[in-house]
Amino acid sequence: MCGIIGITGDAPTLDVLLEGLARLEYRGYDSAGLALLPATAGGALWRARAATGTHSLDDLAKRVDGAPEGATTGIGHTRWATHGRPSEENAHPHVDCTGTVALVHNGIIENHYELSDALVAAGHELSSETDTEVLAHLLEEALAEAPEAGLVGAVRTMLGRVRGYFALAAVRTAEPGLIVAARRVSPLVMGVTATTALLASDIPALLGTTSEFLLLEDDQIAELRPGSVRVTDLDGVEVEPKARTVDYDLDAARKDGYDDYMSKEIHEQPAAVASTLLDRQLPDGTLALDEVRISDDELRSIDKVFIVACGSSYHAGLMAKYAIEHWARLPVEIDIASEFRYRDPVLDSHTLVIGVSQSGETVDTLQALREARRWNAKVLVISNVVDSSMTREADAVLYTRAGPEIGVAATKTHLAQITALEILALYLAQVRGTLYPAEARALLVRMGELPAKVALALERGPAVDDVARAYRDSPSFIFLGRHVGYPVALEGALKLKELSYLRAEGFPAGELKHGPIALVEPGTVVIGVATRTRLWEKMLANVAEVKSRGATVVLVANDGDDETARQADAVLWVPPTEQLFAPIVDVVPLQLFAYSMARLHGLDVDRPRNLAKVVTVE
Ligand code: M6R
Repeated sequence: MCGIIGITGDAPTLDVLLEGLARLEYRGYDSAGLALLPATAGGALWRARAATGTHSLDDLAKRVDGAPEGATTGIGHTRWATHGRPSEENAHPHVDCTGTVALVHNGIIENHYELSDALVAAGHELSSETDTEVLAHLLEEALAEAPEAGLVGAVRTMLGRVRGYFALAAVRTAEPGLIVAARRVSPLVMGVTATTALLASDIPALLGTTSEFLLLEDDQIAELRPGSVRVTDLDGVEVEPKARTVDYDLDAARKDGYDDYMSKEIHEQPAAVASTLLDRQLPDGTLALDEVRISDDELRSIDKVFIVACGSSYHAGLMAKYAIEHWARLPVEIDIASEFRYRDPVLDSHTLVIGVSQSGETVDTLQALREARRWNAKVLVISNVVDSSMTREADAVLYTRAGPEIGVAATKTHLAQITALEILALYLAQVRGTLYPAEARALLVRMGELPAKVALALERGPAVDDVARAYRDSPSFIFLGRHVGYPVALEGALKLKELSYLRAEGFPAGELKHGPIALVEPGTVVIGVATRTRLWEKMLANVAEVKSRGATVVLVANDGDDETARQADAVLWVPPTEQLFAPIVDVVPLQLFAYSMARLHGLDVDRPRNLAKVVTVE
């Protein structure tokens, strides 16, 4: 986790570093820090750090008074704590014993205990609890042993001693103007202009400075100097980095008049679904997925599908399982990505493994997909981030086109994921001939209606606020659903707990009587997804079971469905739709409910505690 940034150029870097850190804050905000190099060799390194949670960056900006005027080379970091509590001592950049080398790092150094024991035995003084600090001291040792190799040589030597994941950037006072960066698994992009070279954990952090980016691959080392970037592999052989031109709209990453990013992103959902659907349908009514570089013949030879993902992406995958099995008649297993590779899944070249990840960087999913490739399975990634690590390694990519999502809680990207997965399910059915063309065409027409239905569901926001107000003092919530309503219930519970820190559990409603119903007592608030999908009647029977034990019941119901409404104390209305598309519409009031509840509790919806937008640790 964490975000890193580095800039070297011919103009003061401080403001650009702070602006970039602000855009990286979604990756963690336990602390923030900066180090600036002196303009000439031999000057002192300047460092400032702040560890005040969501205020870290503001506080850092207040501590820059003593910064050397006009410093043109610097590195910065925003942290999501793994090793070592959030504190100033543990904040990056970390320095060596001499205070002349500074380093920022995103990732985990798995052998840091062993390395720090060796460093301490050799006389180094470590001043933090982090896994990162050992890297600064390893650089110090390498520089003492081979000063002529300089910082880049020291980084190469250091990487030979570490195990784990990293995107890192280091500077040294004896080499002004130089930043050395390296990457394994954790993301790192670079930009270069005539007078500047920049690096960051993601592209948006550097927007406004350049639109031309270079991608650092695993086990490559980059030397950034004003106006140039040189990339070598671990053996020192020069390599040509891949280049990308990015046409991002920076305004899209701002709040557009909404109180917060989450609210803006929730209201962008009709557009997110519409653009994910765009251009997929050929004039003859069939689907074309040009990003899919697996041939139709190969797709026809698939006999099993696995979906791997985490969090909301996992819930999207769960929804897709129903669609792929129903339309494409392929067996689908779905796994929490962090469990997948440790259970020895049975995979071969006839297996399709679908990774679902908004960021394309979640390390659990990335590693699960690498495991799949190891067994020659075909890998298809659904992601919102172009050129993310997962998309670069996949056989095929289906992009969700939701635009940048800044709020930590997934909303518009979640709806776009379900949409993309449903398109994929229909595509598989088309290729495998498991749906009549007329059936597929009819479904595509219904899909085209989804953006308008999501917009309708959003119009009910004020009514959802009323329901949230009515139950604001409830300490816990139970979410129930059946069939495709089950993953919707899981997502509703996840949104509520991550945003409002309330206890919320989602269950398949039919499973309730096997244990969870013991939680129900008079006054327990149960939120049920009771739209008219396949198991609607059975769902209402489960609702009756909790009502008869005194539960207060809130139901998501289709417009005009009085029969369902009669079973509820409060109703969250949504327009009806084809049942396998229903999650795209039915989850909207649950997002609004969680948002509203968090606001009622005075919480920061964009930056919930303990979370980060991109999870690059196992
Ligand atoms: O970037 P990814 O889709 O791989 O992220 C997966 C989860 O970390 C993410 O969905 C997380 O659960 C969100 N906080 C949910 O709102």
